[in-house]
Amino acid sequence: MENEKKVMLSGIQPSGDLTLGSYLGAIKHWGARAEEFDCYYFMADMHSITVRQDPAALRRRTLEQLAQYIACGLDPEKNTLFIQSHVPEQACLGWVLNCYTMFGELSRMTQFKDKSAKNKENINGGLFTYPALMAADILAYQPDFVPVGEDQKQHVELTRNVAQRFNSIYGETFKIPEPYIPKVGARIMSLSDPTSKMSKSDKDPNGSIYLMERREDILRKFKRAVTDCDTERCVRWDPAAKPGVANLMQIYSACTGKPYEDIEREFDGLGYGAFKPAVGEAVADLLQPIREESGRLLADKAYLESVYRAGAEKASHTAWKTLRKVYKKVGFVAR
Ligand code: TYM
Repeated sequence: MENEKKVMLSGIQPSGDLTLGSYLGAIKHWGARAEEFDCYYFMADMHSITVRQDPAALRRRTLEQLAQYIACGLDPEKNTLFIQSHVPEQACLGWVLNCYTMFGELSRMTQFKDKSAKNKENINGGLFTYPALMAADILAYQPDFVPVGEDQKQHVELTRNVAQRFNSIYGETFKIPEPYIPKVGARIMSLSDPTSKMSKSDKDPNGSIYLMERREDILRKFKRAVTDCDTERCVRWDPAAKPGVANLMQIYSACTGKPYEDIEREFDGLGYGAFKPAVGEAVADLLQPIREESGRLLADKAYLESVYRAGAEKASHTAWKTLRKVYKKVGFVAR
């Protein structure tokens, strides 16, 4: 009998320190339904090496990310937390799915276009075929929902197409997953350039807020956040005319749960000078317990090791069930 609980799965690359964007767009929404869903969350270390990484930093960030997942409320007893490279079934399925993913589809991926423009000296095959491995990460666990930020929607849609293609050739094999994208917080922009996404690999540290950042640094960055050069200087929701203010309103709303109309009312007549520090305070309050708990967990290496080992075992068990089915369908001889 297959698992009856619905399944949720997502991952983050340990290619940089986690930002407020990764939190508000993704992790914040992962823990809420752990009772109702069977949940798998992983550190996508294999994806990270599509861009050159310092090995020691990658290892450190992978463990920090695990500590941060737990500190963000993902209880390892209720969620399967693991490291992607510990589950080789995903990479094996990735190879198979590569053969069912079209060159044209991969060429259209925005992330590939952006990353290859930023890393001209290293446009490697992994960067190009990344979405086929991501499809395998997802489909191996037969999830119903994949909670991600807006920028990953295109990859989840490609995953659906690959799954449908495979199913149409070999019969029902993969469940077709739905992307789950939050209404507020799905695309947090840089504080120094509200036209580009807040990113953990951004070279300008003033544009991003990191989960482990100290309160005073968070407050300083928000005070300096770029707002718009309009004359009215009032806090009003108008993303086209006021992208900087809209970004701050989105962050404030995601942190406090207040709708945009209430935020407009709260800062009516007060201007950006009062608004920016208030957003900083809300973010600092939200991140403080996460930073403190992550620090505590990071000091307990044995505990983290026990979590990722148990996670890999459970994840491998599930992924193998899918991989075995796929191998059989494509005509591989069983071992
Ligand atoms: P990654 O590591 O770039 O980002 C991790 C998650 O955080 C979200 N996110 C944001 N959301 C809102 N605003 C932002 N500024 C922001 N920055 C990041 C992303 O949308 C994502 O949900 N390919 C994936 C990792 C991955 C994956 C998977 C995800 C690999 N395999 C399987 C889901 C399922 C990536 O590069 O995300």
